[in-house]
Amino acid sequence: MKILLATAELHPFSKTGGLADMVAALGKSLAAAGHDVVMMTPLYRGIRARFKEDLHQLDYDIKVPMGTAEAHGGIAELRLKKNLRVLFVDQPAYYDRPALYGENNTEYPDNPERYIFFSKAVAHVVRYFGWRPDVVNVHDWQAGLIPVMLKHSALMDGWDAPATVLTIHNLAYQGHYSKARAFDLSNLPMEFFNPAGIEFYGGVNFLKAAIVYSDAITTVSPRYAREICTEEYGCSLDAVLRERQHRLTGILNGVDYDEWNTTKNLHLHNPYSPRNMRGKALNKLELQHELGLPPNPGVPLFGTVTRLADQKGVDIILGMLEEMLAKDMQFALLGSGDPEIQTAYKRLEQRYPDKVCARIGFDLGLSHRIEAGCDFFLMPSRFEPCGLNQMYSLRFGTIPIVRRTGGLDDSVVDPRDDLDLADGIKFNEFSVSALSKAVRKALVVFEHRELFDRMRKNGMTVDFSWDRTCGEYERIYRSVAKAI
Ligand code: ADP
Ligand code: GLC
Repeated sequence: MKILLATAELHPFSKTGGLADMVAALGKSLAAAGHDVVMMTPLYRGIRARFKEDLHQLDYDIKVPMGTAEAHGGIAELRLKKNLRVLFVDQPAYYDRPALYGENNTEYPDNPERYIFFSKAVAHVVRYFGWRPDVVNVHDWQAGLIPVMLKHSALMDGWDAPATVLTIHNLAYQGHYSKARAFDLSNLPMEFFNPAGIEFYGGVNFLKAAIVYSDAITTVSPRYAREICTEEYGCSLDAVLRERQHRLTGILNGVDYDEWNTTKNLHLHNPYSPRNMRGKALNKLELQHELGLPPNPGVPLFGTVTRLADQKGVDIILGMLEEMLAKDMQFALLGSGDPEIQTAYKRLEQRYPDKVCARIGFDLGLSHRIEAGCDFFLMPSRFEPCGLNQMYSLRFGTIPIVRRTGGLDDSVVDPRDDLDLADGIKFNEFSVSALSKAVRKALVVFEHRELFDRMRKNGMTVDFSWDRTCGEYERIYRSVAKAI
């Protein structure tokens, strides 16, 4: 099949979270399975400089209306493998900026315009580039208008537009903007602007548009697929999703073990494996040293790497630490986001310099070293569509402590579920006390070496490789693609 993936983030070019990892790995595994894959994403600042050897500007001009004005863009191509390439949408006024979506915790005001342009550019390539995909898989709200743009263009000009699939990575981010900021730039006719179409409470909702106009919808874990159809987790789109539930499938993400492994990892000094864990012990000591915590193999080290956002339960981690730090334990955080939460962690670090280290920022190398050097990884999310970090932790022999929600529930086994296969600690209620109780359990597990070792080994040998995930996406694509 010819498959086009459209995404606002793509590892290793741009990343704020798991979306970047997931789409990069999906593209790679589809190409390895023999498909012809193109990934489209914006050419953000810095990409040209970092990849200048491999990036080629194509002789291709995108010219699209943006309301009453006209916008131009180019395409830069990067071939990753024979049947895997990236087409970057090159439009410096929109994408050559210090950050992807905003600065100082404030969104860029023209984000709707930036991603309407992106959607139009993708639709333009689908139609005119000379490589016609069988399926276009759009990811998250930023690419959400692509299905409706394709549908509209096919209706207008009578061409055979490809089938479309939406993948929801996070229902909490929808791209909901006023009519003036979004619809008026879309150049879509009024008949799309109604409650059965892309309208949402008088404005435009990009994600809703994709839910309504895609031929199939996937999300990133089976449990999240069920959750988002309920009022509790539906972020006001549950009714729209229930209507399309027969088209909705939950597919657990895979892990790219070429990147996230403990034996050949550029970010780790000491390789290790289930049979030889000495390297892990050394990584722990080095991590403690790097973070300014007293190096000590006997102290349980808890860690987390996260966006500092409401979703991630970083508030209940703070509460839990207040309750638990009297115990002999250490805690390391790498994260960025909400300025108040950043400050709260920094304050805690000042109060407990021998027990807490809070690194504010985005640091790929350190994220690997935290995964490798800690004993336990905290992920007490309010909701979690899939979550990649807990799966990375499992492979790194770092026992995840997770709330039973979304993909966390689908990927971790608690001793109460199966004592022999247990590889993590799960708790139900979203509260400081439930998390503290889970951490107390972890401290007990840490003392029971035999159980601790077994859980680590179970986690390290569980297999979330992309073959399974890729097969499920292929099945969905086949079900919607015309005549394949
Ligand atoms: P989400 O996509 O909701 O943020 P995931 O667990 O799916 O959650 O993926 C998060 C990804 O982002 C992981 O690869 C994680 O290592 C990475 N990440 C998050 N925050 C940081 C940070 N501050 N520095 C480096 N990597 C980070
Ligand atoms: C989103 C979700 C996360 C998921 C990631 C990749 O950012 O919050 O749970 O793992 O996308 O699909």
